[in-house]
Amino acid sequence: MQNHPENTTAEASGNLEQRIQGNPGRFRVLTGDSPTGRLHLGHYFGTLQNRVRLQDLGVESFVLVADYQVLTDRNVAEDLASSVEGLVLDYLAVGIDSDRTTIFTHSAIAALNQLLLPFLSLVSVAELGRNPTVKDEIAHSRQSAVSGLMFTYPVHQAADILFCKANLVPVGQDQLPHLEVTRTIARRFNSRYAPEAGIFPEPEAMLSAAPSLLGTDGGKMSKSRGNAVALADDADETARLLRGAKTDSIRHITYEPATRPEVSSLVLLAALCTGRDPHEVAEEIGAGGAGVLKKTATEAVNEHLAPIRARRNAYAQERGFIRNILKVGNERANAVAEMTLGEVRTAMKTSY
Ligand code: TRP
Repeated sequence: MQNHPENTTAEASGNLEQRIQGNPGRFRVLTGDSPTGRLHLGHYFGTLQNRVRLQDLGVESFVLVADYQVLTDRNVAEDLASSVEGLVLDYLAVGIDSDRTTIFTHSAIAALNQLLLPFLSLVSVAELGRNPTVKDEIAHSRQSAVSGLMFTYPVHQAADILFCKANLVPVGQDQLPHLEVTRTIARRFNSRYAPEAGIFPEPEAMLSAAPSLLGTDGGKMSKSRGNAVALADDADETARLLRGAKTDSIRHITYEPATRPEVSSLVLLAALCTGRDPHEVAEEIGAGGAGVLKKTATEAVNEHLAPIRARRNAYAQERGFIRNILKVGNERANAVAEMTLGEVRTAMKTSY
């Protein structure tokens, strides 16, 4: 069944779930994150949980530390090495297992980056300009001028996904436009250079079943906007952030995401952390108002994250181990990327 990201309805993702459970060996997962800040609750409920679940189901998985993506909106990558290590710590803390999942950095994979050149030739400037996620990132960018890398990074992301022929990409909602670019590139590459067998799959997005959480200011959750609880934050920092969260002027707490987005996002957060139904959580708080809501959410988050935070702190003592994970992951990813680039060069008749 065709499963275009724009119609990834509950029904379609239910079907995807069945196909994965039925035959995990037919899927290969790639996802990744930009090491711009520590991973937060939005990442956790939006995609990290799905990644761990797929890994545990036996789906072959790649996780990318997208270090070049950092350069899209800042001139110098301040202390990039420690951000990269921090990201790996977040992964290990939530249960990504480096024995079963290849964790790698795309700056170390030359053959992956070379795919960017033929891929760029397959999309128009107008198509790049229409990407809503890039538009939003440009609006929040630290730079006054938009770099060529910012404008084209969704194409780089297509190389991230297609170098290992991944066919399943667990991502948050904001990444769907990039998935669509990837699918377009795979289709166009195949029809231009490999019309019979095709080289690349058209990967499917996998959205989490949970609706997205908002930042504490009511906007998109983002560590660089100071509105998100990071996995690595401690209990006090979590309490401080949630105490300052935006609510509304109606005292009685209800779960109505369409009309009360800020309050409902806090209710949802408490519900996700405790595995409960958000309507039930809201009803229980009811007349307690925003104060009780924030306290409930803070306790739920701190309790749920406690073991994850403890694991993260333990791994943080083992820097050599973290370095080695990247070394081994980069070797594996390089071998895969070189095979794919070899096929691409043959298909393009540039194999001299
Ligand atoms: N763009 C993603 C983000 O900002 C990170 C990313 C880079 C990614 N390459 C990827 C995600 C490939 C999924 C697949 O969060």
